[in-house]
Amino acid sequence: MLKDRYGNLASTQSQAAMDRYNEALDLIRLYRGDPIAALDAALTEDPDFGGAWAARAGLLVQQTDKAYAEETAKSLRAGAASNLNEREAKHLQAAQDWAEGRYLDGTARLARIAQENPRDALAVQYAHVGCFFLGLQSELRDWPLQALRAFKPGEDGYSYIQGMAAFGLEECGDYARADLYGRQAVEADPRDGWAVHAVAHVNEMRGDLDVGIPWLADNAQYWAPDSGFAYHNWWHLALLHLDRGDVAQVLKFYDEKVRPNADAQVVLEWIDASALLWRLHLEGVDVGDRFEKLAACWRRASEDAFYAFNDLHAIMAFLGAGHGVDAERTLRAMRAAAADGGDNGYMTRKVGLPLAEAFMAFEAGRYNECVEKIAAVRGIAQRFGGSHAQRDILTLTALHAALRGGMAASAEAFAAERLAHKPQSPWAGRLSRQARELSAKRAA
Ligand SMILES: [Fe+2]
Repeated sequence: MLKDRYGNLASTQSQAAMDRYNEALDLIRLYRGDPIAALDAALTEDPDFGGAWAARAGLLVQQTDKAYAEETAKSLRAGAASNLNEREAKHLQAAQDWAEGRYLDGTARLARIAQENPRDALAVQYAHVGCFFLGLQSELRDWPLQALRAFKPGEDGYSYIQGMAAFGLEECGDYARADLYGRQAVEADPRDGWAVHAVAHVNEMRGDLDVGIPWLADNAQYWAPDSGFAYHNWWHLALLHLDRGDVAQVLKFYDEKVRPNADAQVVLEWIDASALLWRLHLEGVDVGDRFEKLAACWRRASEDAFYAFNDLHAIMAFLGAGHGVDAERTLRAMRAAAADGGDNGYMTRKVGLPLAEAFMAFEAGRYNECVEKIAAVRGIAQRFGGSHAQRDILTLTALHAALRGGMAASAEAFAAERLAHKPQSPWAGRLSRQARELSAKRAA
């Protein structure tokens, strides 16, 4: 048996297959190029390389897109019929868990693989991504921290795990260490978009535009080329410009970087697009036909009810485009999903559905209902996944609903909270002024 680039025993005896597989591992950790093509090249060399089939299935399920169900099933079938060592068989089972909607079980299984095989950086990464989709904040931090014990600084793999730990540290509020780990990882490999992203999150949470904007802009020459993740880092840069109030720059980033191809079929990109346009919508910005084009993409997934976080972002696009019928269709699918006993059923029932109803209420002008529903679930909203920065859209929507609905006390409270977290943020300052003006108006 051969070993992969991190030293894990693999089920292939073909060096050519292993070489292609190691290339895939490099692309996966960098979110770069086409790792599926690299895995397919490995499987062309050795069609019975079960570890490559498991890695392929694992990559596909974490796109959170029903469109990949067939390719996932193909990988799972072929993997089960191939050579698999014990570790690879567990990888395949984790992908099977995900494919069948047992997201928590699949993620826990990956974390267990990583505990037993701390040099399995792929298991660490897949577990990390699983934690992100499930909002397991402390595990986002702790599983990479556990795995670091098996790597020496400077060794192949160390910096990527450090980058994952950086993001987990940030989500747990340890900004100083997140910043340090993220910057060290980027220094080791400036192409590491995930580590760049961890530092971007630190700056976003601090509302530190003076550090955050140049961090992303000046490093883009390294992290952006050939990155399958670039749209998300550009989204972060657009958010910082929105904080500054530079709407023209935000729209330019949207058109050129976040959504350069308005027909692109990448659900994770649609999420960022919805999230950016909805923030502009809250601010009263005319976004032209952008919502319309985005809603046209979301339509094919409008009844998937595959992942509540996606469904809420589909509803944002439909509402922004004025397509109430599509929003209602997604809401009905979410209500049906909420009755399901699986993990998405739980996330939908507890978080996604009340939030979808809150966003519908916002658009219908029922601002009181919107604020109440968001306030009721905001404290547990991490259970439907995403990051603090992404879920900030909930607080922003509640704050704008309070402003529009004349709910001065709620508006002032949300605005004060924002300013306390981000004292340097111009956006927090603007919202705080608007809330104070509303209070003064109501007092008069
Ligand atoms: Fe992010």
